[in-house]
Amino acid sequence: MTEQPRELKLGAILEGVGADHATWRDPDLAGDASIDIDWYIENARLAEAAKFDLVFIVDSPFITPDTAPHFLNRLEPLTLLSAIAVSTKKIGLVGTLTTSYWEPYNVARQFGSLDHISKGRAGWNVVTTGLEGAAQNYGRAEHFDHAVRYARAREFVEVVQGLWDSYEDDAFPRDKATGVFLDKRKQHRLDHKGAHFSVAGPLALSRSRQGQPVIFQAGESSEGRNLGALIAEATFASAEDFEAGQAYYRDLKARAAALGRDAESIKVMPGLSPIIAETDAQAQAIAAAERAQLDVKKLLVQLGRAFNYHDFSQYDLDAPFPDLTGVTLNSYKGRAERIIRISAAENLTLRQAAYRFGVFRSDFVGSPETIAKEIERWFTGRAADGFNLRVTRPKDFALFRERVVPILQARGLFRTEYAHDTLRGHLGLKVPENRHTLARRQTPAIAAE
Ligand SMILES: Cc1cc2nc3c(=O)[nH]c(=O)nc-3n(C[C@H](O)[C@H](O)[C@H](O)COP(=O)(O)O)c2cc1C
Repeated sequence: MTEQPRELKLGAILEGVGADHATWRDPDLAGDASIDIDWYIENARLAEAAKFDLVFIVDSPFITPDTAPHFLNRLEPLTLLSAIAVSTKKIGLVGTLTTSYWEPYNVARQFGSLDHISKGRAGWNVVTTGLEGAAQNYGRAEHFDHAVRYARAREFVEVVQGLWDSYEDDAFPRDKATGVFLDKRKQHRLDHKGAHFSVAGPLALSRSRQGQPVIFQAGESSEGRNLGALIAEATFASAEDFEAGQAYYRDLKARAAALGRDAESIKVMPGLSPIIAETDAQAQAIAAAERAQLDVKKLLVQLGRAFNYHDFSQYDLDAPFPDLTGVTLNSYKGRAERIIRISAAENLTLRQAAYRFGVFRSDFVGSPETIAKEIERWFTGRAADGFNLRVTRPKDFALFRERVVPILQARGLFRTEYAHDTLRGHLGLKVPENRHTLARRQTPAIAAE
């Protein structure tokens, strides 16, 4: 049970020149923002000054010449977050790494190190990677099947968390007088042998102040939600509108409760791309102007991304959404299925589908007051526990920090000061007890050893 009043959570997705095809042309945004460490540090500090819970780095190991600008040329998340860690003091640091093309030992070590470097502020966004081309960057001819990806992910996270508990918290007496550096009884091998991984351990790294890094997860399909329900302490969700947000929220938390978890403790944080201006009319005018400038060819690329960059330019734009029999759904399966379902149910043409699914659709358009109200509606209506704001254009981020956040604070929804200095603290999550210490406490025979 969570005793404290519910508090809105805010993350800042530091997305340089943007995950769409238009943002990079903003005159105030440097063209190399996605590879400029100073850009990231500056924005992480601004997010920290606004008391955000965390910064969030998305990542994917495959691109094509048509990929959106930020993805084309960007920094690797763990390296980047280490630099942000030493340039900030309080804000959480969440990085995305795929369970399909890494080894659990590496990942445990990297995030464990980030957790120490940041003094307990690390989080890992667990993804299974949608794009099939990633396989060829890691010596495989074919991408793992969707179901296999999720089975691997489950075992991967279990191994990583096991490795993070290699040392009990009092394993190192470092007693210079007696010469005892390590209490060997408190170092534990993992000896994991599973369907996908074989890892002996122990990891050469102790736990941080927050016990273990926080587990985020992103996946939309039923398999993705099952994984989230099992492992996630927070999810990065995509919600098309308020009702879809509520449906996902209910569904994820019901799946978690069915597994015996405290569903309230899992934070659902959809992405947020608001259009903010002084007045609602001005914001609507900006939205309309942006829409008028969209290039349908680029929207088709964005639409195709969910289908492993399927080439939609081959179809008639004004004919009904094409029959995709035979096109792979192994990529962003949950999203691809949703696009097919909605296009059929609403009789969308390909052009309409491109405008609907090829952009970050947003119900958040208006004055700072309107945006704050909408955030409150999603929060109190249980469509979200918080949001991950896409940070690109300087003016947009300034409006959010300087105009929207104070309204949220005045309404008692969002903190005015940090009460903690770990990511777990910010998110109201418990520090997990080391499993070996717990076993020792619970089993008298072990305790007497
Ligand atoms: C909101 C959201 C964000 C995601 N972000 C990433 C990402 O940054 N990197 C990545 O490799 N995969 C990302 N994924 C992909 C998932 O990990 C997964 O491989 C893919 O979506 C297929 O799973 P699904 O059908 O359950 O969605 C994301 C998925 C969702 C729904």
